[in-house]
Amino acid sequence: MTSSTPDPDKKSRVIIVDLAVETGLDLAKVEGVVSAFAQHGLVELGHRRRSAARRSEGAASVSGMAAPATRTIPFGRPWLNDDDRKAVADVLDQPILAHGPQSAAFEDEFARFMGDGAHCVSVSSCAAALHLAYSYFGVGPGDEVIVPAETHAATANTAEWVGATSVFVDCDDATGNMTADAIRAAITPRTKAITVVHFVGIPCDMRPIAALAREHGIPLVEDCALAVGARIDGTHVGLFGDVGCFSFYPVKHITTAEGGMFVSKHADVASRVARLRAHGVDRSHGERAIPGMYDVPTIGLNYRLSEIQAALGRSQLRRIDEILERRRANFAALKVGLAGAPVRVLDGTGNSHYCLSIVLEGDVASKRNDVLRGLGERGVGASVYYPQPVPRMTYYREKYGYDASSYTGAEDVSDRGIALPVGPHLEEGDGEAIAAAVRAVVEDAA
Ligand SMILES: Cc1ncc(COP(=O)(O)O)c(C=O)c1O
Repeated sequence: MTSSTPDPDKKSRVIIVDLAVETGLDLAKVEGVVSAFAQHGLVELGHRRRSAARRSEGAASVSGMAAPATRTIPFGRPWLNDDDRKAVADVLDQPILAHGPQSAAFEDEFARFMGDGAHCVSVSSCAAALHLAYSYFGVGPGDEVIVPAETHAATANTAEWVGATSVFVDCDDATGNMTADAIRAAITPRTKAITVVHFVGIPCDMRPIAALAREHGIPLVEDCALAVGARIDGTHVGLFGDVGCFSFYPVKHITTAEGGMFVSKHADVASRVARLRAHGVDRSHGERAIPGMYDVPTIGLNYRLSEIQAALGRSQLRRIDEILERRRANFAALKVGLAGAPVRVLDGTGNSHYCLSIVLEGDVASKRNDVLRGLGERGVGASVYYPQPVPRMTYYREKYGYDASSYTGAEDVSDRGIALPVGPHLEEGDGEAIAAAVRAVVEDAA
């Protein structure tokens, strides 16, 4: 042990408890053996295994010892490896850092992953993709855009940014998604776009929604920020409507740090949006007869993804099958562990398992924040998706007023909901540990 080691007594205790747990020996016996070894200068402290440390919590409390410091299970954490680091470093070893071969290859590879002839345009965020979508469809002042109440503010913010009016629709209890019937009731002659959100990776029932949009000739945007890998009968979400918008923010299914993908089944939409995304310039470097010469037939923005980000995205995408499988397995273990607890688990066919979203029911329904605090104290990172129905957020409430009775579904999810971790960063047994923590905390709070 070095003199810089903090609290050596505590660390020794942790290691002793770990040894007892690992060997199955009685704690007192292990303590005796270790102290005998220490007297003879034979003990050397090493790294304790994280899973063992977690299991040791039980042993420590049974023995009456102070509980050792244990690891926290984070809600989300980017799942990076050496291939990702090398992919990024390799880009730095060559001269092209923006709109080069990495971005083009990432678009092709994401299109292949989506299937069904998807056309992809890499962008700097999902919000950028949404903004480009509304801009492409010519949404502006006087137009209405139908959006879910239960979503990230970005879904509506981007519609507001082009001057449109957000028309919020409540969600369904089982999935947190909008239904075709609820959307139909919100359509008016001013509806210029419908934007659905696949809530925490659970696909909306897209066939009736797409049929409704077609029937009214209204462009359909799919906000797939949390839905990489979500498919309905093999078709990836984002390809049911006219446009799909994805996010590669750090805790998403794959990450490029910041970043996103604009996807369309229409080649002409994708190629027009690719220009909008890059200043509205009419030709790429390779297409310029005279270097540096181009025109701007339409105004654009700069929403490009860098080559560094694209290389990271490509590397992450190579592991997408494993990422999705780990998320699926973690979700399944956690869901089983929660059976019988006073919670409703939101789920649905084709779920890509961004997180496991529960809604507290019965006596604990009004104690969500206590439950969140209790989980934190037990080392379980949890979050809230989303913190408020968007129409209740200040900007929207002040602009449109807020009638809670119109958003009972969204209030239920926002005010009584907890998002639990299922990401690939979880270790074996974490699903069971999270479920046990939820059960214990819910019991305490009731
Ligand atoms: C449904 C939804 N849409 C849009 C966004 C914004 O994504 P980005 O940060 O990539 O712009 C998020 C972020 O979590 C989201 O959950």
